[in-house]
Formats: sequence, structure tokens, C-alpha cells
Amino acid sequence: MSVTHTLDTSTSRAHPVPSPMKRLTVPKLAAMKGGEPIVMLTAYTARMAQLLDPHCDLLLVGDSLGQVIYGLPSTVPVTLELMCAHGAAVVRGSWHSVVAIDMPFGSYEASPQQAFESAARILKETGAAAVKLEGGEAMAETIAFLTARGIPVIGHVGLTPQAVNALGGYGARGRSEAEAKKILADARAVAEAGCFLLVLEGVMEEIAADATKAVACPTIGIGASPSCDGQVLVTEDMLGLFERTPRFVKRYDDLAARIGDAAALYAAEVRSRAFPGEDQLYRTKK
Ligand code: KIV
Repeated sequence: MSVTHTLDTSTSRAHPVPSPMKRLTVPKLAAMKGGEPIVMLTAYTARMAQLLDPHCDLLLVGDSLGQVIYGLPSTVPVTLELMCAHGAAVVRGSWHSVVAIDMPFGSYEASPQQAFESAARILKETGAAAVKLEGGEAMAETIAFLTARGIPVIGHVGLTPQAVNALGGYGARGRSEAEAKKILADARAVAEAGCFLLVLEGVMEEIAADATKAVACPTIGIGASPSCDGQVLVTEDMLGLFERTPRFVKRYDDLAARIGDAAALYAAEVRSRAFPGEDQLYRTKK
């Protein structure tokens, strides 16, 4: 009698759906400067990645998962372990988009060597193609160190949420002339250090437009400018999963209300014994 230890995964929700699309690459994304805008959304789970992947060029496993998935007050407590686990899930759920993973607070700031160890771990454990890290001029040396060692890096300047304790909140940046100059200098520094994309978050529109002209790599805006080379949103914000909608978010659905309605109907049917019905039952054939 032969014994097989192979699981039949055809009944699993995680059963992969083959896709005819070929995965984009970092050089192809970098070459999109000034062309068709780059489409980027956040994803934290395999299923969400499967749904978003055909429509996106880039899926970002953002450390915003701390707030969105884990209910943390900020991104500061997010760990490398969490980023690796969610990053691997998103890579498993995608075939087409480049997957990039946020380096969490505390995993890269101490030195270029610390950043290399963290980034190498992220790429090895997840299969993602790139990492993203926050910070301007102060991070330029680290970005140059990583890119020289084969790690594609996305920069992130303007409102940098990991610095919320220093910034005192999540307000848009660059209202004063000095702050505007600093953001432009940050953008130039990280681009010259070698990042292949640059996220501009929560900045005055003119700053994002000027930065997009000033740097050689594509810029991705979030609360920035339509003249950026691409746009990113947190998917759950875009889907209307939260009651609070920041100014820079456009809601493309009202999922919170629709989930509430579905849960209310389910609860009513369980209580009235309308669910499960005949269609949901297994019966032995007579
Ligand atoms: O953590 C995140 O999701 C991000 C994007 C919003 C840019 O950094």
C-alpha cells in the first residue's frame, strides 16, 4: 500500500491561481519616469495581493500594517518579524507586481551595516525585490551602501510616519520656506544616493512637483501631487474600511458599511436558523 504525504491543496483557499502575467522588475519600474503613471497600493495579505496584483505595478507591504492590521497607535512598534511574515504572504499572492517591503523603525537607522543585515533578511525571507526606508539626507549614506550591494531601495521623504514622535503628528509638511527647502534637499540626497523610486508623502503640492522635476528617479505621491510619476494609497483607506478619511485619500468603495450590512444579515439568519440552508449542507446520497 502506498502512502502519500502530499496534501491535496485544491480545496484550500490559498490554492494559487496561475496568472499569465510576467512579474515586472525594478529596472522596468525605474524606467517609467515621466511615462505612464506607476500604480502602487499597499498589501499585507496573500488574498489582498491576489486581488490587487493584476491592476498594480508595485505592491507595498507598508509598515502601516501596524495600524491597519494590528490596531497599533503608530508604525513605531512594528517589527522585522511582522514585515517578513506579511511580505512573504504578499509575494505568494502575486505574480505581476514588484513587491517592496518597508523596513520597520529601528531596523536600519543605526548604521549602513545594520540596514544591510535587515534588508538582506527581508529579501531572503520574503522573496520581495526591494525595500523602502524613511528619511532624507541622514539616510543617503545607508541608501548608497545598500544599492552598491545589490539591494534596490525606495526612498521616502516629506511626512515620515516613523518620525511621528519627533514631528508631533501626521500633518502635511513643507508649509514654511525652510521646511520646503529641506524636503527638496532630502529628495535630491536620497535620489543621488541611488534609490530607484522615491515616495513623497504629505507635502505641499508645489514641493512634490518641484521634487519630481529635480530627481532622476520616478516619484510616487501620497498626499503630494498629480505630477508625481505614480501614486500610492493604503488599500484599506481607498476601500473605505475606516470611518476617518484623511484629505489625501479618495474612497473608491464603502467596504466598512458593506461588511457591517453583511455581518448584520448573517447574525440575523443564524439567530432565526435561516442559515445554514439546504444549499450549505452535506447529506449522504440515498
Ligand atoms: O507604510 C505605508 O503604507 C507607506 C505608504 C503609505 C507610502 O509607507
